[in-house]
This record gives sequence, structure tokens and C-alpha cells, in this order.
Amino acid sequence: MNTHLHITAWALALILFIVAIILHKQGKQKGAKIVQMVLRLDYLLILYSGGDLIANYFGGDSPMMVEAIIKGIAGVWVIAAMEMTLGKIKDNDSAKAGWIQLIIALAITIALGFFRLPGGLLP
Ligand code: HEM
Repeated sequence: MNTHLHITAWALALILFIVAIILHKQGKQKGAKIVQMVLRLDYLLILYSGGDLIANYFGGDSPMMVEAIIKGIAGVWVIAAMEMTLGKIKDNDSAKAGWIQLIIALAITIALGFFRLPGGLLP
């Protein structure tokens, strides 16, 4: 149930992240700032839905608890990497380190979320 909220929240985050970058590149600083503010609110939704999902792994003796925890940490890392990348782009600094982190963190979250952990939409 909460998986839908979780997927919606992080998919929206990726879209807002791209939109903020595009607006910045177009020189629309005000628009980029507003989009980034919405993005930050969306982080709360990601954290709330992710926290709700991870709660399923505590208390029981799930064999996948460790992977669920790593998934959660990688998810927080995605958020941190998006913030870092946007911050650097905004300062017209090299965002390379942020992009690399974002790609690694996204790969881990998606691999664990979709292909390892049992819950969710995929059979
Ligand atoms: C932008 C960051 C994030 C991305 C891209 C992401 C991605 C995903 C994906 C692809 C799934 C699988 C959904 C499915 O199986 O249908 C998932 C599930 C999950 N995510 Fe995230 N996530 C993010 C942030 C977080 C955070 C911050 C947490 C923890 C606080 C978290 C915890 C979980 C948990 C526990 C599941 C359920 C796994 C399961 O039972 O199958 N995620 N996430």
C-alpha cells in the first residue's frame, strides 16, 4: 500500500531534480529555487513512506533485514547526493562528485528495492 506512495514520491523527486537543473541552465533562478523547495518537501514524503516500509522488517525475524537497512541508508544517500549536485550546479561549481554519488546510490536503491527486497509491485 505504502509502496505506491514511496514510488510516487521518489519518481517525483527525480523529475523535480531534473526540472530544477533545466531551469537553472536556462537562467531561471527563481523558478529553480521554487522547484527545489518543492523537492525538499517531497524528501519528507520519501522518508515517511520509506520509514513506514522499513518498519515491516523490524520486530520480526526477516532474513532480509540487513538488506532493508542498507536500502534505507542508500535511499538517504540518494537524497544527499541530489542536494549536493543541485548545490554545486547552483554555485556553478563542478557537480561531478555529486553525480557519481547519485548514480551509485540510485543503482543500489533500485537494485535492492526492485530486485532483492520482496515487497512491492513487481512479482
Ligand atoms: C530517492 C530515494 C529512494 C529511491 C530511489 C528508492 C527506491 C525504492 C524502490 C525502487 C523500491 C522498490 C519498490 C517496489 O518493490 O515496488 C523501494 C522500496 C523500499 N524503500 Fe526506497 N527508495 C528511496 C528512499 C528510501 C528511504 C529514504 C528509505 C528508508 C528510510 C527507503 C526504504 C525502502 C524500503 C524499506 C522499501 C521496501 C522494500 C520491500 O519491502 O520490498 N527508501 N524504494
